[in-house]
Amino acid sequence: MKRVAVLTSGGDAPGMNAAIRAVVRMGASLGLEVFGVKHGYVGLIAGDFTRLGPRDVGGIIDQGGTVLGTSRSPQFLTEAGQATAARRLQERDITGLIVIGGNGSQRGAAALSSRGVEVLGVASTIDNDLPGSDATIGSTTALDVALEAIDRLRVTASAHGRVFLVELMGRRCGYLALVAGLTGGAEAIVIPEVEQCPEDIATAVRAAYERGKSHAIVVVAEGAVHNADALERYFTAHHERLGFELRVTKLGHIQRGGAPCVFDRLSASLLGAAAVEHLHAGVHGILLGIVKGQVTSSSLAEVIDAPKPLDERLMSLARTLAQ
Ligand code: F6P
Repeated sequence: MKRVAVLTSGGDAPGMNAAIRAVVRMGASLGLEVFGVKHGYVGLIAGDFTRLGPRDVGGIIDQGGTVLGTSRSPQFLTEAGQATAARRLQERDITGLIVIGGNGSQRGAAALSSRGVEVLGVASTIDNDLPGSDATIGSTTALDVALEAIDRLRVTASAHGRVFLVELMGRRCGYLALVAGLTGGAEAIVIPEVEQCPEDIATAVRAAYERGKSHAIVVVAEGAVHNADALERYFTAHHERLGFELRVTKLGHIQRGGAPCVFDRLSASLLGAAAVEHLHAGVHGILLGIVKGQVTSSSLAEVIDAPKPLDERLMSLARTLAQ
């Protein structure tokens, strides 16, 4: 019987468990033996495998995080670490590996693929920074979490007439901040992909007050040159001139927790199942994502070096609608 393994790697994302469940159950239905690798590439190097059957993945579709555990593995970045990882699969006669994760994890998958391992990636990260996927597994739930926070902050911002800087995760990608800012009705959005100086943001906030607004929300991506810390320093230094009171909230890892939303569960189910079907059919070296509602494959080698452009029309729409 053909054996395949599945691991989750990098930052956990809501929906990873739903993807593991789909891999295990589709694998069983195709007559494959499925193994879970504990703690991502750390567990792969250590040979930490566990056999998974359909009953082992019961009751996890609604759970955030990952039942397999995850990690960031410095050892796996080395040639020796990758060679050991590939050997661990051979030792157990496991011919296929599914890597559920984001950018760095798929870079690792591509490295294994170039060593002859039959690897297939499933795009899952809250950052949504992988090309070949409209919305990676977990990013929509993370947006829901961010929106709930922004909605709450707006209440207190309005009561006090304050400006709130809300910093969101996303590494070097502004997707979470852009979409949360647009849908949360932010007065200004600060992302790495669009050059803005602190005075531009201050002007946007001042203009909002001058149009009669009682408060302002500025959504800032953690990867922006002028992140929340930088903007706080600037606004505080120019407090007298700008004349607004400021508070800062960093959502941080809160965005990674919580039950996956319907979209992430659906994507995870579609992609996890498709990943096994592809491996079963002898297709590997690809990353699976959802594009226009359909499971879509891209070359792993190409995806890991390609930038993911943001839809700049969203930035312009957010500005128009913030009037
Ligand atoms: O890649 C997911 C992510 O949550 C990023 O948004 C964030 O920059 C990073 O992981 C945080 O990593 P860690 O959990 O290792 O602190």
